Amino acid sequence: MRLEDLLYSQGFGTRRVCAGLVQQGLVTVGGEPVTDAGLDVQPEGLHFTVQGKAWEYHAPAYVMLHKPAGTECSQKPSTWPSIYTLLPAPLRQRPQKGPVQGVQAVGRLDQDTTGLLLLTDDGKFIHRMSSPRHHVPKVYEVTVKHPLDDRQVQRLLQGVVLDDDPKPVAAAACEAVADHHLRLTLTEGKYHQVKRMVAAVGNRVEGLHRSRIGGLALPADLPPGQWRWLSAADLASITG
Ligand code: URA
Repeated sequence: MRLEDLLYSQGFGTRRVCAGLVQQGLVTVGGEPVTDAGLDVQPEGLHFTVQGKAWEYHAPAYVMLHKPAGTECSQKPSTWPSIYTLLPAPLRQRPQKGPVQGVQAVGRLDQDTTGLLLLTDDGKFIHRMSSPRHHVPKVYEVTVKHPLDDRQVQRLLQGVVLDDDPKPVAAAACEAVADHHLRLTLTEGKYHQVKRMVAAVGNRVEGLHRSRIGGLALPADLPPGQWRWLSAADLASITG
């Protein structure tokens, strides 16, 4: 692949901008400065720098973000900063493949929810993960206002009726980890689902954190606000 095309595919700007970056000596490949924008490079696994910043070739892009509280999962947030401001420009500017440019969140978390969020520019992956047929379990660590009792846990497991659907929704797994800490596993992603289910059993969510999607856990060493590429093994572990 021509170097300028590779840079373009990774979100470094138009082809002309990418060619300019190389010609101005702002790009290194495998540690060596390069000035030929037409240089033929092998994209898979390529490490390069642009204006001193290290980058890896990924097509498509799959990343995880540790979503901090006080951020919205929207490109056009209404009140809080967008999670997209936490990502570097190339991830946000990758050329348009489907209807949207750059990586997109796979589902949404509420403004005050923290934890594991996936983003990708693979539209098919987003579609698969959002399909109710797919049933990827998501684990939430829930801090509740009132002490938990066994009845609440049993009701969440048996199913509760929410206001927008007469069909009950049940937790795939649910355990009281401590008096005020519930671990809840859901396989669907209805609007405010955890908060509404917990309210339906007479309690109240005071803190919500997503710790796991399928077999992929939020790494303990990824601080809030930070992102990381997903490895092939991470990707495989999501759907088991
Ligand atoms: N359920 C909620 O209520 N909020 C979230 O952010 C995710 C699941």
